[in-house]
Amino acid sequence: MQRLFTGLQPSGALHIGNYLGALKPTADLLAETDGLVMIADYHALTSLKDAAHMRANILSVAKDYLAAGIDPRTSVMFKQSDVPEHTELGWVFQCLVTTAFLELSHAYKDKVAKGLESNAGLFAYPMLMAADILLYDTDIVPVGQDQRQHVEYAREAAAKFNSAFGETFKEPKEMILESVATIPGTDGKKMSKSYGNTIPLFGSKDEIAKAVMGIVTDSSGDRPENVYAIHAAFRRKEDLDTLYESKKGKYKDLKEALIEDIEALVAPMREKRDSISDEDVKKVLVDGGERARERASKKMVNVKQRIGVAL
Ligand code: ADP
Ligand code: TRP
Repeated sequence: MQRLFTGLQPSGALHIGNYLGALKPTADLLAETDGLVMIADYHALTSLKDAAHMRANILSVAKDYLAAGIDPRTSVMFKQSDVPEHTELGWVFQCLVTTAFLELSHAYKDKVAKGLESNAGLFAYPMLMAADILLYDTDIVPVGQDQRQHVEYAREAAAKFNSAFGETFKEPKEMILESVATIPGTDGKKMSKSYGNTIPLFGSKDEIAKAVMGIVTDSSGDRPENVYAIHAAFRRKEDLDTLYESKKGKYKDLKEALIEDIEALVAPMREKRDSISDEDVKKVLVDGGERARERASKKMVNVKQRIGVAL
């Protein structure tokens, strides 16, 4: 069975683009692999310095994933800070790469260009991520396109360590999730929290309706293209074409049909999410942390022997 590892930063409310483009495919993959899902709280600390926010975000993202179908009995769901071997191995990798190499990180350069503080943690970020992945002898890392280079960094860290100390780490492969269609937002551009054009995944029906009613429709043709483009993620093409033909020019009816289709997908997940308490989440994470740590600590014993700190 393939070992799969993925991580996510605890940040912000999810939208239906995140679900269709990342959560759903990840949950499907996890169902058929030996998988670990990590909440990257120490990575989030590079930009988030507010304890109440951090706590709320961790609980929230864990609920999102459980509601979206990740089964904590078959996959290991845990938070990074519960397995200290991650920061420990991250340090080892930092000692193997040069600052010039880390300076080539696109994600780092982008974040600094956007005005984020260039703290040492942000700079060393890829080596902590390499540790996350390599501790578990991971085969595949499902991530969005923006994380591709970080998985390359993990391969590089593995290769550097192996050549310095002997074969210890497996080189992982990224699995880019962006092969699925990009879901457009309410203005026709890619749906993204940074464009403010999202339809919330766990919003109430009213919030979803409000977002859909706000989809920009141009009246040049007889099909509201932006509505149709989002709708295409929910129905087969023939069904959709029949619907749009029969409701030609009736934009309000078409938007209402879209609301119902989104609601049909989202309502059971929303219900599930509402039924999960903070205490339930904490239990899942404590249990996941123990299971992850059992594996990580074994790997770290080997690492310490290799580098000569274990006497
Ligand atoms: P955002 O653009 O809202 O900030 P992120 O960059 O945090 O979203 O993306 C998280 C995950 O969701 C990524 O794996 C990305 O591929 C996926 N994703 C984000 N927006 C979309 C979209 N509009 N369509 C499909 N997948 C998306
Ligand atoms: N850097 C990833 C992101 O911002 C999150 C992450 C941390 C991750 N560690 C990981 C993803 C390990 C995959 C594997 O989205």
